[in-house]
Amino acid sequence: MPLDRRRFLIQSGSAAAVVALFDQGCAAPSPSAPHGDVLGFTGVPASLHDGVVVPPGYEWQLLYPWGTPTGIAGQMPAFAPDAGNSANDQAVQAGMHHDGMHFFALDANGDRGLLVMNHEYTDEQLLHTDGVKAWTAEKVRKSLHAMGVSVIEIRLGTQGWQQVQPSPFARRVHGNTPMRITGPAAGTPLMRTAANPAGDAVFGTFANCAMGVTPWGTYLTCEENFHGYFGGPKEAAQDATVAQRRYGTVAGSQWVEYWRHDERFDLSRHPNEPHRFGWVVEIDPFDPTATPIKRTALGRKRQESATCTVARDGRLVVYMGDDSRFEYIYKFISREKVRPGTDAAARAANRHLLDDGTLYVARYDTGGRGRWLELVHGRDGLNAAGGFADQAEVLIHARLAGDIVGGTKMDRPEWIAVHPQSGEVYVTLTNNSQRGDAGKPGPDAANPRANNLFGGILRWREDGSDAASTSFAWDHFALAGDPAQSGSGARYPSNEADMFGAPDGLHFDKGGLLWIQTDLSGQVLGKPPYTSLGNNQMLCADPASGRIKRFLTGPNGCEITGCVVTPDRRTLFVNIQHPGEARDDGDTKPNSAWPDGPAPGSARPRSATLAIRRRDGGIVGT
Ligand code: FEO
Ligand code: CA
Ligand code: CA
Ligand code: CA
Repeated sequence: MPLDRRRFLIQSGSAAAVVALFDQGCAAPSPSAPHGDVLGFTGVPASLHDGVVVPPGYEWQLLYPWGTPTGIAGQMPAFAPDAGNSANDQAVQAGMHHDGMHFFALDANGDRGLLVMNHEYTDEQLLHTDGVKAWTAEKVRKSLHAMGVSVIEIRLGTQGWQQVQPSPFARRVHGNTPMRITGPAAGTPLMRTAANPAGDAVFGTFANCAMGVTPWGTYLTCEENFHGYFGGPKEAAQDATVAQRRYGTVAGSQWVEYWRHDERFDLSRHPNEPHRFGWVVEIDPFDPTATPIKRTALGRKRQESATCTVARDGRLVVYMGDDSRFEYIYKFISREKVRPGTDAAARAANRHLLDDGTLYVARYDTGGRGRWLELVHGRDGLNAAGGFADQAEVLIHARLAGDIVGGTKMDRPEWIAVHPQSGEVYVTLTNNSQRGDAGKPGPDAANPRANNLFGGILRWREDGSDAASTSFAWDHFALAGDPAQSGSGARYPSNEADMFGAPDGLHFDKGGLLWIQTDLSGQVLGKPPYTSLGNNQMLCADPASGRIKRFLTGPNGCEITGCVVTPDRRTLFVNIQHPGEARDDGDTKPNSAWPDGPAPGSARPRSATLAIRRRDGGIVGT
């Protein structure tokens, strides 16, 4: 890194840290905030229109589509529309499939900031000029470089939000970026590999889905569907252990052929490598030289989100979902208290906070009550006889530990959001078409529908309004779907609620408005029984009144995911992921060319971030 860039960061670091205080996603519930007029906008209809639709009086702007230079000085290769960029180019450009995202303000008025976002997965047909009929080592590298995280600097001016290029903050973290592993599992036998016998370092993060923000101003990226990138010869599948099957790391079932060109992805040769994925990774967005850290104390799963809040006594609480059918909801409570603030001293004091604490899994009982069950080696059957040699194995195989203590198997927990005033916790349960199938768990109190095609939103309030409590009261905020369809089981919190399906992204703004984003699979959009729901969408809910209004609909085939409202509540950043995913003819032609082309086939569709504002500059969602 050039010296002048380093010096700039050091000089600007304290100012950045101070304003980050206004923007942290984690705060103890505060007594009240001005409510004002809510949901005053005109809702948009469900739609199969191949484009972005927002309410009258709002406008959207395109920021940072796949392939855009991230803004690292001297390394800003232009996007090649024919996918001709090299793996090295891709390492300094926007990745694919934008997902979880946060805005960190860089100045007190919030007109300058860092936008940090995940790149969840790759569409190999779009990523490579000639697709992937023939994999090469270069394609594997390009694919790994197209996932991970982007840090970009943006500024609000007369032309709206613009990316600052170059920026001393600009950074890509991707599937080959060196990172550290810390916490109770670091260095233990299951984490050791030939390339890293110490078990404390790994190359890369990928499959980055939802996210979290710590009170000290760092970004948490979550490794979700990591399993699909590990593979090997089919014959090796017969040796798969119970744990490997539960986590889906079984040779022959891979999505991509990385293992043929990068041997660390070959399960038959390096069975411990996948143990180094499926974690929450902490990234300091203000320092592009800081090494990202995988925090093993938070447990290994198909990590969807890592939503932070602070307990009454000042300890950190992190809520997490494991997005697979019949998997669990977790929370982590740190042993030490959070040192308040985001300055250098606070950051240093909180450096090890995510390495030491207790992991719990949720059990939702009948009668609207629930308990947090601790996952601690030596207790409740989590011992050698139960298959756990030590706490490291409890964390690496958290799913198996959750089975033993009796967690509730959920309908695919995705994002979790904490109400900024009440501290109530909301989680999206996106769907579970196998609920009630032969040999699978049937409906229960918290997951009441068999063949749950539409999902819903469940919420709970910790006893004593304390996030560190081990018991809580829960209910359903919404059971999604089309209430007009007989047998849909849909139920909304009021008569003034627009319908939706497969809720996934979830974000509370500072005013307590809940932004809901949907992820119906591209294959089912517009088809029965999903027809009336249209393309994927974003809605705004007022939990106080139960009203829910549709705010945005997206292009064909896309999912809407990743959402953050700026601290002044005047801009909403949203990601459009995988436009065109549903393919009309066989598996080759995307059904959208958004945002570059007018019609399918005219351009490669690209995931991208939108900045949405009111034309009058007012507060979004009111
Ligand atoms: Fe990446 Fe569970 O959505
Ligand atoms: Ca998701
Ligand atoms: Ca998706
Ligand atoms: Ca999803």
